[in-house]
This record gives sequence, C-alpha cells and structure tokens, in this order.
Amino acid sequence: MLALGIEGTAHTAGVGIVDETCRVLANVYDMVRPEKGGIHPREAANHHAEVVVPLIRKAADLAGIDLADLDLVAFSQGPGLGPCLRTVATAARALALTLDRPIVGVNHCVAHLEIGRGVTAAKDPVLLYVSGGNTQVIAFARGRYRVFGETLDIGVGNMLDKFARECGLSFPGGPILEKLARGGTALQALPYSVKGMDVAFSGMLTAALALRKHGASLEDLAFSIQEVAFAMLTEVTERAMAHLENAEVLLGGGVARNQRLQSMVGRMAADRGATMFVPPGDLCIDNGAMIAWTGLQMFRGGVRMTIPETVVDQRYRTDEVPVTWR
Ligand code: ATP
Ligand code: FE2
Repeated sequence: MLALGIEGTAHTAGVGIVDETCRVLANVYDMVRPEKGGIHPREAANHHAEVVVPLIRKAADLAGIDLADLDLVAFSQGPGLGPCLRTVATAARALALTLDRPIVGVNHCVAHLEIGRGVTAAKDPVLLYVSGGNTQVIAFARGRYRVFGETLDIGVGNMLDKFARECGLSFPGGPILEKLARGGTALQALPYSVKGMDVAFSGMLTAALALRKHGASLEDLAFSIQEVAFAMLTEVTERAMAHLENAEVLLGGGVARNQRLQSMVGRMAADRGATMFVPPGDLCIDNGAMIAWTGLQMFRGGVRMTIPETVVDQRYRTDEVPVTWR
C-alpha cells in the first residue's frame, strides 16, 4: 500500500509518501518564514495554496511513482490554524476525488507519536511532544492517546521563537538559541513553572526579556532558558513514565531536535533504566510522512471517511481519536 499525506496545520506545508512498512519514499516541505512578526494564518494559508501542488508533484517524482499508484490520501485535519487546515483539506479532497481513492483526516499530534513508533524501535512509549504550538506528554491508555500533561499557556517552541524575535534574531529562534546556549555559563534565575503534570512558559519569557533589558548576555539567557524549560519538561515526562510504569520515552515535534533536551531526557531515562527514542530530525518537525503513515494505519484499522466527515477541526484534541489500529 502507498499513502500520500499532506501536512499544513501551521507554518509548514509538507507532503510525504510512505508504504505499509513505514518506509518513507518521499518527505518534502516548504515553510513560511515571516519577514517580521509572527505567522499570519491567512498568509500561511496562501503560502500553502501556492506550494501544495508543486510539493505533491515533487514527492511523487522523488518516490519514483505515478500519482495513480497511490492507494490512500491523508491530510492533517487538526489541531491548527483554520485557514491553513482548510487549504490542505481542500487539496487532499481534490486529489482523492481526482484519483478516486479513499481519504482519511489525521490528528496532527497523534501523527507525531505514530511516526516515532513507525521509524524507531519504540513500542508503547510516553511521547514528549514539543513544538511551536504544542507541548504535551502523551501516552496510550484504554484505546486512546491521552494527554497526561501539557502547557497551560504557550508551547515551548513558541516561547523560544518569541524570545529570539524580541532579541532581534530570525525565525525559527529555537535552533539559533541552541547555538548561543553553548556559549552561556551563568545560570540566570527564571521561573520554574510546573503545576502537577502541567507546565507554563509565558512567565519565563517575560522574565528572560526583563533580564535582557538589564544587560544579561544572550548566551547566558539562551543557556538559562534551555536549562530551566527543559528541566520542567523532563520532570513531567518522568512523572508520567513513573505513573504508567512505562520504560520508553519518545521525543517528537521541532524542539525534539535540540541536543540539550535530548541529553536531559536521555539522562533521566538512563537513570530509571528506560530507553529514549528520537526520530530523525525531518520526521520530528511538521511533515507529510507522519500524516501519510498515520492515515495508512487508520485505514488499515478500519477508518473510512466521507467527504463531509473531512471537515477540519482547529481544536481537534489528541484524546478524541479512537485508536482502532493498535
Ligand atoms: P505544531 O503545529 O505541532 O505546534 P510547529 O508548527 O511549531 O508545530 P514544528 O516544525 O514541529 O512546528 O516545530 C517548530 C519549532 O521547533 C519552532 O518553535 C522551532 O524554534 C523549534 N525548533 C526547531 N529546532 C530546534 C532546536 N534545535 N532547538 C530548539 N527548538 C527548535
Ligand atoms: Fe507539529
């Protein structure tokens, strides 16, 4: 079976093609990079509309297939920005109807977890899903992926990007701060906000910007933000693993590419005799392959959707998805 997946919940439009063994035959993407300020939903949607057809062609060429070889079309149904979701859903419907193939709408957060299970040896992991818009600790329990902890305000990547932007750095800020952090030495006092299983980052953002105004170096602040934010994430992930007696932790989302986060979670896992899994970087960020793979498994698990059922859902919750395929 061959599935094509279209991702487009936020700033990235991506198209991936996978087979039933989770071999990734193609995974191409194009990201909006706002010249200044944050992402404008309408502008991002216009961007996706422009690039989605060329991306579909490029993916088919890279995979060395004809679009008629596809068995299934999958797309990101939510959560995300309304105009972006509607644009990729429209593209997916058009493709599915043209090819006369089934269509499946996929929950974006579930896809981050499933691609990790698909390409690593993780079987039933606790997922630390850390991206721009989302920060969640997710695990499978009683037929659903359940959210055990999450951010109460902004995503950790969003916090990194906003801090970087306010300091005049370009987007995305996360990778730039990771480099700067290597030159930091003095740990600055930043709020450590863990409430039960949940975390919060906007207080840290405000505090870090205030310290910057008072002359703290970018290197020290990048270092301190990483140490404190990632320690918070490691703590709640460990608590979920302890409660669930789960010895596997999987990282996903763009921030999972961060080496410092990987080393902190890896150390925590090793200390408890558990194993950490990290998918390759281009499968951590928003991508079409994870949508294709999850759609393919849903289809094999009996999921069928009519066109009216492919309506997008900006607030599609992780635990709304009946997991019929495992
Ligand atoms: P979602 O729609 O799931 O919220 P997203 O739109 O933010 O995701 P992703 O591609 O998963 O997209 O993640 C992008 C985020 O990852 C950005 O906030 C970016 O700064 C961050 N990021 C990427 N690489 C790194 C890194 N090396 N260190 C820290 N953050 C990183
Ligand atoms: Fe994502």
